[in-house]
Formats: sequence, structure tokens, C-alpha cells
Amino acid sequence: MTKNCLICSHNIEPFISFGPQPIANGFLLPDQFKNEYFFQMDVAFCPKCTMVQLMDQPDREKMFHSNYAFYSSTSSHMAKHFEKFANEVMMKYQPSFVVEIGSNDGIMLKHFANKGIKHLGIEPSANVADESRLHGVNVVSRFFDESLAEDIVGEYGQADCILSANVMAHIPDLHSVFAGIKKLLKPGGVLIFEDPYMGDILEKTSYDQIYDEHAFFFSLNSIEYLAKQHGMETIDAYPQETHGGSMRYTVANRGTHLKNDRVRAWMEKEEYMDMDKPATYEKFRQNVEKSRENLLQVLTEIKRNGGNIVGYAATAKSATITNYCEIGPDLIDFICDTTPIKQGKFSPGMHIPVKSYAEFTGKHPSHSLLFAWNHTKEIMEKETGFKGKWIVYVPEVKVL
Ligand code: SAH
Ligand code: TYD
Repeated sequence: MTKNCLICSHNIEPFISFGPQPIANGFLLPDQFKNEYFFQMDVAFCPKCTMVQLMDQPDREKMFHSNYAFYSSTSSHMAKHFEKFANEVMMKYQPSFVVEIGSNDGIMLKHFANKGIKHLGIEPSANVADESRLHGVNVVSRFFDESLAEDIVGEYGQADCILSANVMAHIPDLHSVFAGIKKLLKPGGVLIFEDPYMGDILEKTSYDQIYDEHAFFFSLNSIEYLAKQHGMETIDAYPQETHGGSMRYTVANRGTHLKNDRVRAWMEKEEYMDMDKPATYEKFRQNVEKSRENLLQVLTEIKRNGGNIVGYAATAKSATITNYCEIGPDLIDFICDTTPIKQGKFSPGMHIPVKSYAEFTGKHPSHSLLFAWNHTKEIMEKETGFKGKWIVYVPEVKVL
């Protein structure tokens, strides 16, 4: 099966298949099991523009709606991260109008609102958009694209800064997004966005970043290719620890800003890592298969020896792990999670019960499988009372 690359139209074919996968944030009740939606999750690398991408993605309305289960502010470390991000933008650019694409519950934009800076969030998932309004954030509950950008310019004028975190990689039609950004941004303005970085995914075999919402897995090279097609360029690339390794890109109209030296350094690193070579992705596929084998072996061994396992955090990432490895309620008693909207429901695809955090602390299991491995620091700080063992699978499967 081949398709056209979403960025450069070159013919692409998958290097890995995860089989049928559910909506990763689609927590459900038993009466919904029968009609649960699945899509074929295959991933391709484009040798021309180097973009790694899903071959197919569910319709956006199936993923982002008024019952969207991901609330950004469930992590205190992420709250601090976005406060710092907002402060850096204020200090560096002193913007008079800021737009954020995918502002969720207002985790970042509320800091601009608090300072009285003109701002606008674009957030199609109505429940999280409503939550942000409670924090004084102005928000439009629509999907960002070129036509929305035109409407915003008509009503509010052009922006100095357009910000986005963990959203650009969710939007298959990035050409419409970039065309919209060109119109919405003042000629000398900047687009600053961050997303999980393909270099980290390769280095850590963190294949759980691959799920329905993530249409793309960015590298600096692929972003530079995309930006160039719209008369823009990457002027900075700054690594972040969030989501297990992300990259923050600053993009501007070509020739309007100086390029930070980091851009060249990261381009060289990507070349050194052979991120433009198909063989790199073939090796990744082998590592993913080995990781699945090791994890299943560890879990079945624990069960055979009479242990019990609870999943820690019903992350979207855990949908890929549980469905791809076929880990169900026979191996995991339940998954604990602090998000009220997920509790009392069942995990997508494998239907593992999702329970409150109190169920975990009330009766500690012998083992806990850390699905929110990207929040390890925050979780270890608060779980000093847990005397059982942690099972981790990134960068490799281990029992700690
Ligand atoms: N920025 C937040 C939220 C990331 S989750 C954070 O980093 O924590 C992804 C968000 O993107 C969801 O809230 C979803 O509703 C939103 N989203 C998805 N497609 C979008 C689009 N086309 N335009 C704007 N937001 C979108
Ligand atoms: P995250 O890694 O951001 O999720 P995703 O893979 O969906 O992007 O983790 C957020 C989820 O983890 C959210 O459901 C809340 C849960 N969580 C806990 O239950 N306890 C915690 O201590 C933390 C930090 C997160």
C-alpha cells in the first residue's frame, strides 16, 4: 500500500504496522464496547522531505469534541513548564497580541490573560475550552486552518506571536495551517511551537508516542522543509524535556530574523543520527518488536509468580502499549488516573478499568506499570510511600 506524503506528495509506504488501534483518548463504558471504532495504524517515513507520519488518521471530530479526555493541567510540572514558556515569550517579544493554537484548558494562555495581554486561544474541544474560560482566557472553539485564520485577522488583527504545544503534529493539513499562519502573523512576527521529537523517539524506542492524534513525528529537517514551502524558515530549535523529549521550533518569514546557531547544530545531529535514511526506521521497527516481547515476558512472569499489577496513569500513550502488546485485564487489574472524566470508564481497545488515584494508594499492588513515564520526576517525588516495584519500558523494559 502506498500513499502520497502529506507534506511533499512523494510516494510513501509504511515501515511499521501497529494493527487496528482505537481512539487513544476514547475512554468508554461497557455499553459502548460493541461499537468501538478502530483504525489501521501504520507509520511511514518520507525519504524526500524526511517527515514521519501516520498513513491514515481518524476524522478529527472523532478525536476532538466536547468530551475530550485530556486536560493539560493534570501535571504540576507541565503547569510550571507552560508558565515558563509564557514568561519567556513575554520577555523576548513583548507581544501586544498572542494567538495559541490548541490552548486546551488554558494552561499557557492564562498567564497572558493575567497580565492583561491581548490573546486568543483556538480550541476545538469544547469542554477543555470552557475550562480555560474559567481562568479568564478568550477562546474560539474551532479547528485552526486557513479560513479560521482569515476570520481572526478580520476580527482581531494580526498577531505578534503564534504559539502551539503538542498540537501542530495533530493536524494532517499542515499546509492549510501554515497558509493561515502566514496571514495571521505580522510580517516580522514569530511562530513558536513544540512537539515530541523524532530523534528522542528513535533513541528511546518510545513508540507509545505513536497514536491516532499524532499525524506527524517531527524532525528539524522536516519542519524546515515545510516552512520553506511557505516562504518561512526555522530560526531556532530548542530541545525540551516534556513528553519524553520534545523540540521547540521558532519559525519566521524568511530573512526577517537571525538564525540561532542551534539550528545548524541540530541539523548536523540529525545527519549524524541518519534520520534521513530508511534503514534508521527499519532498525526502530526491530527495536519496537523487541520491546513488546520483553514487556510481555516481564508482565506474564510477575503474574505467574502471584504478583498483581496496576497501571499508573491512563495516558493516550498507554493505548498503543496495551493494544499493540495485547495487555488486558488478565495482566493489569486496573489503571489509576487523576482525571475525573477518565475514572469509572474503561481503557480504549483492551477495556482495562480506569479507577481513581485513591484506589492505588488505598491498596498498593506488588507492581505498578508506569504509563506516564514522561512524568517520572513528578511521580517519584510523590510516590515515596509506594513499596512495590515499578515496571518501566522506556528506554528499555526494566523492573525497578
Ligand atoms: N497545548 C496543550 C494541549 C495539547 S492536546 C498541551 O500541550 O498540553 C492537543 C489539543 O489540540 C487538544 O486540546 C485538541 O482539541 C487541540 N486541537 C486538535 N486539532 C486542532 C486544530 N486543528 N486546531 C486547534 N486545536 C486543535
Ligand atoms: P501525559 O503523559 O501528558 O498523557 P498523554 O499520553 O495522554 O499525552 O499524562 C497525563 C495523564 O496522566 C492524565 O490522564 C493524568 C495522568 N497522571 C496521573 O494520573 N498522575 C500523575 O501524577 C500525573 C503526572 C499524570
